[in-house]
Formats: sequence, structure tokens, C-alpha cells
Amino acid sequence: MARYASVLELIGDTPIVDVSALSPKSNVAILAKLEGRNPAGSVKDRVAISLVDAAEADGILIPGKPDQILIEPSSGNTGIALAMVCRLRGYHLKVVLPSNVSPERRQLLLAWGAEIIDSPGTEGSNGAVRLAQRLADEHSEWTFLYQYANPANPAAHYRTTGPEILRDVPEITHFVAGLGTSGTLMGVGRFLKEAKPDVQVWAVEPPSGEMVDGLRSLEDGYIPPIFIDNHGADLLDRKVVVRPRESIEWTRKMTEVGLFVGLSSGAIMAGAVKCASLIDDNESATIVTIVCDDGWKYLSTGAWSDDIDDVVDRAKKIIYF
Ligand SMILES: Cc1ncc(COP(=O)(O)O)c(C=O)c1O
Repeated sequence: MARYASVLELIGDTPIVDVSALSPKSNVAILAKLEGRNPAGSVKDRVAISLVDAAEADGILIPGKPDQILIEPSSGNTGIALAMVCRLRGYHLKVVLPSNVSPERRQLLLAWGAEIIDSPGTEGSNGAVRLAQRLADEHSEWTFLYQYANPANPAAHYRTTGPEILRDVPEITHFVAGLGTSGTLMGVGRFLKEAKPDVQVWAVEPPSGEMVDGLRSLEDGYIPPIFIDNHGADLLDRKVVVRPRESIEWTRKMTEVGLFVGLSSGAIMAGAVKCASLIDDNESATIVTIVCDDGWKYLSTGAWSDDIDDVVDRAKKIIYF
């Protein structure tokens, strides 16, 4: 085993596992990249370190200077990953969270030493973004990294996730991932298209108006600036729509190949399976997909144990991501 000087060196270089046992077609292989192996538990560790490194390189954050404050609206993995990175780098992180986020998320942020500012639960994550934006405007001395607009988000995936995928699966024909900030799809998608132009890049989205934790429908009205800056509409070959119920069904099914994954990863796997089913019988294909995080933070959803209708219903009221 290698020896590392810091936990931050453990970010990235995640394993890829063959989950073709769940493929609907014998001519289509599906491989899943396990991002839950990152130290703070998700794909967003790559983004958090990239955002902080870029801010330090630009002189926005100064290592070692006391009392530097960052603010970020995130109930999800970015907040948790940033909290870990800030703890190690000595920055104070304020996270704006809708009051109805799941207890696991609140606990994890507190564990990493972040300060929590509540935003109205009824306004969801968009309300948290608005409040963070207002507080950042009122406190120009605070740093607002804002992953939805920060080029360091897709750059993390262009530099690391994309090259790792091509190194480990050179025969890749399709990349299927969820669309949240679009950082993964823009960064990995751009890298793969440059290196291997025939690779198809597919985005998994919930239907407009429905919620799959971690993912967003571009039809809901907000298009992340990084999606526009990276010409996302041209980069993506196709979108697959996955409903909340399917995300739970596939989260459960992933245990059949030994994977205990978060709910958006269930949705993304459902998307990969839809992609596989559309491939001609006489064509062979290799789909690479992303497991964004593991299931631990979602245990209070009852996703693996409760009646599926109750789980889907509960997920409308509590923000798990
Ligand atoms: C659990 C989970 N699913 C999906 C996504 C979507 O990824 P991205 O923001 O790169 O589009 C993320 C990241 O926000 C995530 O943490």
C-alpha cells in the first residue's frame, strides 16, 4: 500500500467496477466509477479541492492568513467536501442549508467543523442559493466559490476524472452521468470528446418538476453558467429522463452487484440501463457511469427497507441531497 502525507492526496484515482450483470444486453458492458471512495465520501471531493486550490492560486484565499471565511449554499456533497478541505486548510466555512435537509447531512457538516446557516425549507435549494448570494453581497470580505459558475468545477473533472476513465476503460463508447451543476458532464465530456470524438455523452435528468436528489432538470428554469460556458447543449449527445421511483428501484438493485450507493447513483444507473437498451443487438458498447457517493447518508430515507411508495413520498418533503 502506498503511504500518503495528507488525506487530500487520497482524492481521486477511484476504482472502476464491472456491473454488466445489471445490463439488459449481453453486447453492452456497464462499468461504474466508485466516487464514494473519496475521503469525504463523494465525487465532490475533487471539486472542493479544485475550487480551493484555484482561489488560492488567484490570491482570493491566502493560506495561513487567519479568519478567512467562505460561504457556500449546499446541503449536499459539495458542502461536505468543502468542509473537509476547509478544515485541513484552516478556513472557516459557512454553509447555507434549507432547514429540511436530512439529519445525516447536518451532522456531517458539523463533524467537519462547518457553521450552518438555515434557509427556509419551503424554498428548497434555490432558496439556499439566494440567501448565500445575498449574504456574500453583504459581506464582500467573504469568499463565495459558487460551484455552479466556477470553471474550477468542470476543470477538476477535465483534469482528473476524465483521464482516469480513459486510462482504465480505453474501449469506452458511452459516458452516462447525472446533471447537477453539470460539472462532471462538462469536464469529463469535454475531455473524452477531445481524446476520442466518437464517445457519446449522455445526461441523466429527472422530469421537470420532479426531484431526484442531486440532479436537476434544465427545463426547470435554471441553467448553470458552467453548462453555458462549456457549450453543454452541443457537448451532450442525449438526455435520459429518470423518475424518482426508478432511482429508488435501481438504488436497491445495485446491491445485487455488491454496491450500496446514494440515490442519485441509482438514478444514473437507471439511465445507463436505458442507454444500454437502446443499443443495437449487433453492436457492442461499453458504458462508463458514475457512482457519486455511497448509501450511508441516505439511510434515513428508508430507501432499502421501507415500502417504495412511502420512500418516494418522503423524498418530496425532506432534502436528502
Ligand atoms: C450525489 C450526487 N449526484 C449527482 C451529482 C451531480 O454532479 P454535477 O454537479 O457534477 O453535475 C452530484 C454532485 O452535485 C452528487 O453529489
